[in-house]
Amino acid sequence: MLSLSNDGLITILFSKLLIMAEDLIIASGSKAEKYEQLLPQILALIGSETDPIANLANVAAALKETFGFFWVGFYLVKTDELVLGPFQGPVACTRIQKGRGVCGASWESKATIVVEDVEQFPGHIACSSLSKSEIVIPLLKDGAVIGVLDVDSESLNSFDTTDAHYLEELCRWLVSHL
Ligand code: SME
Repeated sequence: MLSLSNDGLITILFSKLLIMAEDLIIASGSKAEKYEQLLPQILALIGSETDPIANLANVAAALKETFGFFWVGFYLVKTDELVLGPFQGPVACTRIQKGRGVCGASWESKATIVVEDVEQFPGHIACSSLSKSEIVIPLLKDGAVIGVLDVDSESLNSFDTTDAHYLEELCRWLVSHL
């Protein structure tokens, strides 16, 4: 029979915690409760990491894993267009012009855009016909848009002011680490 001292048990538990440092704890409950539990974990995940690709990739993965969104990803401003950055989900459009689609409109207006039904949004760019609703948050650095966070859902009306509130907060944290 295997017997362990308290010290041995604590050592095993501690090494397990270290191994699982990059695992997410997925909260149950309301959307707001999920964001409340997710955001501090994302902060910890980003930590002192300054590589933008690593941080954007982990944020996309954490949002997808927590909420099961259809598509989560970033488009980054490169010269005069948005270019696809780290994302989770099906392959997507590579380049978007300023003012085009939801992403280009968010870039142009420097504002979050919530789209309850993508078919009702003039000029919506359908990277996938499965996407039904969408939210786009601009990444603002010193008053300029350096990219956008785009989240798509397979259901209508998936996003509201709660998503806008928490995703804007997340984007502010993120930009300060890029
Ligand atoms: N629907 C977006 C294009 C990007 S994909 O959804 C990933 C838009 O209209 O800008």
